[in-house]
Amino acid sequence: MPPSIPHDLLTSLSIESHHLVLDRRGSTVWDIVTGSGRYALKLGYPVAATPEWPGQHWTAFAPGREAAVLAHLDTQHVASGYWEKGTWNIQPWHEGPDLQHLWTHSRTDGTPPDVQTAMECAGALADLHKAGWAHGDVQPAHFLIGPDRTHLIDLALAHGKPVPEAVDFPFKGCLVHYEAPEISAAVLDEGHAAPSQAADVYGLGATLLMAATGKRAVIYPDDAPRPAQRAAIVAGNRRAVTMPGPMGPLVVEMLRYAPQDRPTITEAVSQLAELT
Ligand SMILES: Nc1ncnc2c1ncn2[C@@H]1O[C@H](COP(=O)(O)OP(=O)(O)O)[C@@H](O)[C@H]1O
Ligand SMILES: [Mg+2]
Repeated sequence: MPPSIPHDLLTSLSIESHHLVLDRRGSTVWDIVTGSGRYALKLGYPVAATPEWPGQHWTAFAPGREAAVLAHLDTQHVASGYWEKGTWNIQPWHEGPDLQHLWTHSRTDGTPPDVQTAMECAGALADLHKAGWAHGDVQPAHFLIGPDRTHLIDLALAHGKPVPEAVDFPFKGCLVHYEAPEISAAVLDEGHAAPSQAADVYGLGATLLMAATGKRAVIYPDDAPRPAQRAAIVAGNRRAVTMPGPMGPLVVEMLRYAPQDRPTITEAVSQLAELT
């Protein structure tokens, strides 16, 4: 059945128009317009087990948890609550495109990736780090490069300050293409990990590399099971792929295996500023 917005929410939020942005494992996102403006509406629900995937419940709590993080960050115009299957939130709509789309030409016809854009993405991550948070899920789709400013979205997995127990859940890693080796190792050993700012810097290095080249930083088959992908990350099976242009050396530093060998995000931003 195609997803729909629960009737209660349509009326209580005074939604005037809506269209579906995406519907995938545990999360439905809508672009909505209400009497007070344009928002993203996120609805979380639990994922049932399939032969390929284990079931997961945390996705039901993700919008509620993200709203708690956004409240700590004093983000305006955020609301959240419960619906039949989990939690929902609304947050201001940010214009894109995201980084993966913006850099399509770098991947297809070799246009050099633009340093200014990379600096804006790093700046958005730096703002979050300065506020005392680690994002935990840095990836190209989470940077929206709008006409006025760049936003880093999807704070459902961010760690830094306490969130209500009712919406909290353990961090079990992120999209493995962007996962730092120490996170992969902890997930393999203990089933969970702690997001960190150093792991976010690795994630940003992998994000810039992916958006600019279409290549992952680590060698593993795309269809390998998640634990095998994580084992390849921990083994350090690095690909001989480099970021084209002047950002190459910085991206190498961001992708260092040991967290303490990576630059901080503040250092990364100032190095990018020197390149612009
Ligand atoms: N505030 C927002 N403004 C504009 N688009 C958004 C916003 N939040 C989410 N989206 C869109 O929805 C997609 C999924 O959102 P995301 O926050 O990553 O949720 P999840 O990964 O939990 O499904 C994003 O890649 C983006 O296209
Ligand atoms: Mg996301």
